[in-house]
Amino acid sequence: MVEKITVSLIKADIGSCPGHAVVYEETLEVAKSVLEEKKQNGDIIDYRVLNCGDDTELIMLHKEGVDSEKIHGIAWEVFEKCTAKAKELKLYGAGQDLLKDAFSGNVRGMGPGVAEMEFTPRKSEPLIAFMMDKTEPGAFNLPIFRMFADPFNTAGLVIDPALHNGFVFEIWDIMEHKRVFMKTPEEMYDILALIGGKSRFVIKRVYPKEGGKLPADEPVAVVSTEKLYQIAGEYVGKDDPVALVRAQSGLPAVGEVLEAFAFPHLVSGWMRGSHNGPLMPVPFRYAKCTRFDGPPRVIAAGFQVGDRLIGPVDMFDDPAFDYTRQKAQEIAEYMRRHGPFEPHRLPHEDMEYTTLPKVLEKLEDRFEKI
Ligand code: F6R
Ligand code: MG
Ligand code: MG
Repeated sequence: MVEKITVSLIKADIGSCPGHAVVYEETLEVAKSVLEEKKQNGDIIDYRVLNCGDDTELIMLHKEGVDSEKIHGIAWEVFEKCTAKAKELKLYGAGQDLLKDAFSGNVRGMGPGVAEMEFTPRKSEPLIAFMMDKTEPGAFNLPIFRMFADPFNTAGLVIDPALHNGFVFEIWDIMEHKRVFMKTPEEMYDILALIGGKSRFVIKRVYPKEGGKLPADEPVAVVSTEKLYQIAGEYVGKDDPVALVRAQSGLPAVGEVLEAFAFPHLVSGWMRGSHNGPLMPVPFRYAKCTRFDGPPRVIAAGFQVGDRLIGPVDMFDDPAFDYTRQKAQEIAEYMRRHGPFEPHRLPHEDMEYTTLPKVLEKLEDRFEKI
């Protein structure tokens, strides 16, 4: 029997340079040295450390399963040591996402974002790790739906009998803390009715259906769904989500997975977590938020998951995405011209968790009845 493996992608903003622009090389080195030591000790099989904008991203391959105290403990230790370095260098927002003082068995609910999945590896296991900055988990709704449910994106849904049956979507209501499992293609319209409201309903996982090539109880995609403001009780930056997506042989091909990002759709986040803007797919070297602290961006790290991690391949480092990036610039410019007006600025309800209410408070006494 083939032994299951787990891929964990755990991320946090531990501080950046300058402002919220980009993770500083010296803190990335700290993360690498801690994970190298854990690899030498045999705690993890392999690892990679990347960054998307001001977020430090730890990708770990191991056999401890999801929600492992050991693996989450390692991530926490890495982030604490990176924070110490960030404080020493007086980086901006040092330790921003470490919202609790002491580790208590699991990083969920403590600030970091987590996407992890345990599965039985196939003969060959292509996997893409997506990492976003300056946006929220719902930013993954549209591309994940496209990959696994939209025949105009994924030709395999039409052509390949192994995909033809569709998939099961696990959708979370992140306000009410509830979830629902729904099937494509038969429940497609109902799914869209939910996930179109991306600030509340988010795709958490995708599973194969029963009776197919792959085990129905092992996810093929997973998204981090942490809500930082719900943890912190006040605005501490957007959640800057991450996702893992397996590909090929009964799943969307790598190119179908990437095609879902060819349209730079509007997501919320950007400056002060308070603005709608286009999601721009960029190579690793451009994962650095500059214009108006953005625009929001996504990187894609391609791996073959074997006895170790083979990769990463910088998947958006391709002129084939230049048109998308150009389109994103045009949309960014168009949206920016609205200045403080909606729909560039988020609707009033969504501003509740930002610093805006503090500004409005002082006007309260001056309002008269009409
Ligand atoms: C967005 C983000 C930044 C900050 C902005 C203000 O997620 O992190 O746009 O919100 O730079 O930051 P402070 O309040 O730290 O000056
Ligand atoms: Mg930051
Ligand atoms: Mg960030």
